[in-house]
Amino acid sequence: MRRLVAQTRLSAADLVLPVFVREGISEPVPIASMPGVVQHTRESLKAAAHEAVEAGIGGLMLFGVPSPEHKDAEGTWGTRPDGILNAALEDLRGELGEATVLMADLCLDEFTDHGHCGVLDDQGRVDNDATLQRYAEMAVAQARAGAHVVGPSGMMDGQVAVVREALDGASFTDVSVLAYTAKYASAYYGPFREAVGSSLQGDRKTYQQDPANATESLRELRLDLAEGADLVMVKPALPYLDVLRQVADLADVPVAAYQVSGEYSQIEAAAERGWLDRDVTVLESLTAIRRAGAQVVLTYYAVHAAGLLRRL
Ligand code: PBG
Repeated sequence: MRRLVAQTRLSAADLVLPVFVREGISEPVPIASMPGVVQHTRESLKAAAHEAVEAGIGGLMLFGVPSPEHKDAEGTWGTRPDGILNAALEDLRGELGEATVLMADLCLDEFTDHGHCGVLDDQGRVDNDATLQRYAEMAVAQARAGAHVVGPSGMMDGQVAVVREALDGASFTDVSVLAYTAKYASAYYGPFREAVGSSLQGDRKTYQQDPANATESLRELRLDLAEGADLVMVKPALPYLDVLRQVADLADVPVAAYQVSGEYSQIEAAAERGWLDRDVTVLESLTAIRRAGAQVVLTYYAVHAAGLLRRL
């Protein structure tokens, strides 16, 4: 009876697995603050991608971790075809074709030596419009490498319009833009910074949103839709379900939410101590995110949850 009348359903096809691929390693490297998650080699990423496709999940979101010598002020290796992220995209598109949706994180922070999401002006502040130019180049490079979807995550003003125009101008009209619409300056990204070996000095409060504010997310939504977003996303997920609900009520494109690294690590840490039942908590949190209005959920639990759902 509970199953018959359930208002919210969760299926593997709703889930997207974020994955990390690191340059210059010969074995996958575990991420200490995210037990069970690794930085992949290009080879191990291929195997993980096949496993994800077999589990029936909806897509993969790729993050690149370049070697320290491939970080500079402009994030040059983010746009080079032989940069780790673009090389791995090419690997996976060649390996998987259209078997799953390949998404690419479109941001400079992994590739800059200062760790910010954009290029800096002469006073060390992120230069919004100079950064847009780099995002345009990065979008085209990622599309060329095989991304079906690019996800501009840097929260620069005007990023969706610039990326859409660049893609269309290079004849990648079928490549979709997943807009990070409401992205909060969040402590929940803490473990991610270890995952990508971030060199960030300072914080991102001048370009990410204040957790105190909900209304500005609706303004961001309006702008992203007008600029041509194909999907819009709220991030983090569980602490921002109210924002997610408001965005979902107004958006006329699919809505995604990102259960971020800190949300994952919280569950893992408590489960390890026997304080939470991992599997029940995983399915409850993902169901809550779906209930609040997300059609698509990015989660490090994607493959694990797909396994749990098969057994229900
Ligand atoms: C920026 C980016 C971040 C995350 C995804 N894209 C970090 C940040 O904005 O500081 C965080 C994801 C997570 O915590 O799981 N490229």
